[in-house]
Amino acid sequence: MTEYTLRLTQPEDASALLEYMGPIADEPNNGISLASSDEITYTEEGLRKQIESQLQADNRLSIIAIDQEGSIIGYLNCDPPGPRGYLHTVSVGITVRRDWRDKGVGSAMMRYALDWCESNATIKRVELDVFTNNPRAIHVYEKFGFIQEGVRRSVYYKHGEFLDLLHMGIVYERDI
Ligand SMILES: CC(C)(COP(=O)(O)OP(=O)(O)OC[C@H]1O[C@@H](n2cnc3c(N)ncnc32)[C@H](O)[C@@H]1OP(=O)(O)O)[C@@H](O)C(=O)NCCC(=O)NCCS
Repeated sequence: MTEYTLRLTQPEDASALLEYMGPIADEPNNGISLASSDEITYTEEGLRKQIESQLQADNRLSIIAIDQEGSIIGYLNCDPPGPRGYLHTVSVGITVRRDWRDKGVGSAMMRYALDWCESNATIKRVELDVFTNNPRAIHVYEKFGFIQEGVRRSVYYKHGEFLDLLHMGIVYERDI
């Protein structure tokens, strides 16, 4: 069995994370809203500050999956999508390194994140956006209970094609 571990992202991971993101951004049809690595706007210092702030906030989460050599093979973030009125909501972003896809890493990270959301009394809603031409991601999200809420048609243009973005969410039955 192939082995990996999940843990909270640490500020020292910033450089390795940038190296992780580049090849995924450069993949054709990568499923994310980056057409190539030159669209990555993070600096190492900026990413380090973001990770520090995620570690300190009750309503922010960042985790990575690591293989046995210590390389990052998956990355997931949960962050509120806006200021005050959005603080009960977290928006999820998730990627898995190409050679590790379809091996359960994305599901393991999502399980970790949703366990954290479910046990976090400040969170009422978890949401994400996914391109409608990404059936694997949609399958994983529906497996974990995300409901399809609506489609923004032709919102993104990549490789000569207009793409539709599906909005999905989970709402917890609790007052906050
Ligand atoms: C989407 C992503 C995060 C999922 O992570 P992963 O580690 O590959 O997913 P898992 O191995 O945990 O699960 C994959 C599931 O999708 C299923 N699947 C694979 N291809 C599929 C397809 N074309 N249609 C439907 N289901 C598919 C697998 O059978 C598996 O199902 P199961 O959990 O019921 O057995 C990962 O593939 C990825 O990073 N893709 C590229 C970037 C991306 O799309 N990010 C998400 C942007 S919203």
